[in-house]
Amino acid sequence: MTCLPNVVWHNGLITKKDRWALNKHKSALIWITGLSASGKSTIAHELESLLYEKGIRSYVLDGDNVRHGLNRNLGFSADDRKENLRRVGEVAKLFVDAGILTIASFISPYESDRNMIRTLFHEGEFIEVYLDCEMVICESRDPKGLYEKARKGEIEHFTGISDPYEIPANPEIVVNTGVLNVYESVEKIHSYMKSNGII
Ligand code: ADX
Repeated sequence: MTCLPNVVWHNGLITKKDRWALNKHKSALIWITGLSASGKSTIAHELESLLYEKGIRSYVLDGDNVRHGLNRNLGFSADDRKENLRRVGEVAKLFVDAGILTIASFISPYESDRNMIRTLFHEGEFIEVYLDCEMVICESRDPKGLYEKARKGEIEHFTGISDPYEIPANPEIVVNTGVLNVYESVEKIHSYMKSNGII
């Protein structure tokens, strides 16, 4: 981290723990990683709905959406993905500090980028969820037609085809979305959050 001269950190009067007490639940970052079409956005939004019904303050930061605004100037080279995820990590840190149960759904194909985000959080506040889904299944779904375009060479740096996906070495949760349906997948994450005292 660059140390800026003449810029001094100012602590607020309300702490994250004060916000947890007000909300009656903790905050954390649920980081969902996996191939395109592995179910990240769907699961993120279904989880958010379930938490909303239970009175838990949550918010989804989604790859496609964030690239429409905050990160609209970034592409898919390794450096651009790193910067995409660095910014999202910092935004998520603010959300978690604000007491929000934050759900991030990003391909985030590089282990080093995911581990960098983990370092921004306290122990137990970064929960990496790997959506394990074989590429042939993702490609057969292809809801946005991107695999087809990538196969034709119309999209470069496409994860799984012309760019790598590094399988997480030690994720907190693995969800096999080639086998489990959306609700079973969401329940697996939800029950982890309950059994680990987050909610
Ligand atoms: S990440 O690698 O930087 O984490 P991110 O999740 O933000 O990726 O964005 C991925 C979304 O952008 C995909 O869901 C897909 O719709 C779209 N996309 C466009 N081009 C590519 C590409 N070359 N590789 C992967 N996804 C792409």
